[in-house]
Amino acid sequence: MPDVAVRPAIDGPDRHGPRACFRKMVIRPDDPRPRSERFGVLSCVRPEAREGPDVDDEAWMRLALTLAESTRAKTHPNPRVGAVIVKDGRVVGLGAHLAPGEAHAEAHALHMAGEAARGATMYVTLEPCNHHGRTPPCTEAIIRSGIRRVVVAMEDPNPDVEGGGIERLREAGLSVDVGLLRAEAERLNAPYLTAVAARRPFVWLKLAMTLDGRIATRSGDGRWVTNEASRRRVHELRDLSDAVLVGSGTVLADDPKLTARLPGARQPIKVILDGRLRTPASARLFDGAAPVLIFTAPGADEAHKARLISRGAEVIEVPLEAQAKTEARLSVRAVLEHLFRRDIRLLLVEGGAKVAGAFWSAELIDRVTVFIAPKIAGGGLSPLDGTGVLKMAEAVSLVDVAVERFDGDLAVTGRPDWATNGERRAP
Ligand SMILES: NC(=O)c1ccc[n+]([C@@H]2O[C@H](COP(=O)([O-])OP(=O)(O)OC[C@H]3O[C@@H](n4cnc5c(N)ncnc54)[C@H](OP(=O)(O)O)[C@@H]3O)[C@@H](O)[C@H]2O)c1
Ligand SMILES: [Zn+2]
Repeated sequence: MPDVAVRPAIDGPDRHGPRACFRKMVIRPDDPRPRSERFGVLSCVRPEAREGPDVDDEAWMRLALTLAESTRAKTHPNPRVGAVIVKDGRVVGLGAHLAPGEAHAEAHALHMAGEAARGATMYVTLEPCNHHGRTPPCTEAIIRSGIRRVVVAMEDPNPDVEGGGIERLREAGLSVDVGLLRAEAERLNAPYLTAVAARRPFVWLKLAMTLDGRIATRSGDGRWVTNEASRRRVHELRDLSDAVLVGSGTVLADDPKLTARLPGARQPIKVILDGRLRTPASARLFDGAAPVLIFTAPGADEAHKARLISRGAEVIEVPLEAQAKTEARLSVRAVLEHLFRRDIRLLLVEGGAKVAGAFWSAELIDRVTVFIAPKIAGGGLSPLDGTGVLKMAEAVSLVDVAVERFDGDLAVTGRPDWATNGERRAP
């Protein structure tokens, strides 16, 4: 499932009728060209070529979703939103929310449409806001613009903002349809929905293993399991994430930089779980590319703490959590609470086995991507350190599964269906 970005190129009708055009960029990790050169051919949406008004609605909403997706999650903690304004089968305005504090998608689209918005339809991926936040309410701007109909993919479930955007539009006499492509909109904003429902970051576990399920050899050597194309994809995942997390075991074994090595990437915050404060002050992750947060247990060695702070780290003490049958570990829940307060909405957990096992056994993983390289280590470290289930029938199933290929490697992505976890029911 490669990522897709869209660059709008609005055009009037041609000899085949009205159309809205855009250039699409399919982001494949193995594409050697720089990103700026990867915008492909001009594609056009032609509502007239399709039958029935419902089919038209879907095509325009897809365009709004693609606009929202193309923001690469730089909007966090805000949701990713796209808006398209259509009049007489032709796009008159497009917009996406680009960064917190900046104009909302609807405001950009309305600005572009100007007078042409009068009598038009707006397609928007999330219920328009109805409150004075950092920007004025979109509902009032939509009403003033003379838009007649609004199609909304999903309601805004955020209790912190005064809702009622849909009601306000209806009150003002606009026709409002809700729920078109809801599942796609919810997938796009999964971190936002997790934030609203659970008040914690969305946790995405990424791991790389051999065909025989090893993330490192028995000597702890784990570089590299996967090929270059897979690793490039990991850099894209880091670019999408607000923060990347590993355990102190991985810092000591691999000395990773934890940066997103892509042109124009936004560097994620680096997070280390390090109960005994073993991270060396000479670690390569202190390269200044992004803030470093080291979580440790209360009573950490003050001298070493001072050394890490002098390297630019922030050292945060969190309580230990006695986990069944294992040594005391940092409370991953407390870590997530802290990260959430710092506006982190998408957290990429990159291992190693102990850390991945801690998140797994706490059922605090929302999405998993496993890269599988066609090689066999014949022994070594398993991806998840934990007791696991007794019977295979009790293993956790992944749902919404997607499989991608990166040259010879495979990547399987899915959402753990925790309801199927037999470990929970075990005595
Ligand atoms: N192929 C891959 O995808 C991949 C990715 C990453 C790593 N690796 C490999 O994995 C190996 C390292 O894995 P690992 O399991 O030894 O180390 P790890 O999971 O990276 O780190 C484990 C350490 O983190 C600290 N920690 C703090 N809070 C914790 C918590 N709640 N749960 C678990 N650990 C917590 C513990 O140290 P304290 O007791 O001091 O708190 C623990 O010893 C390396 O060989 C590396 O190459 C492979
Ligand atoms: Zn708004």
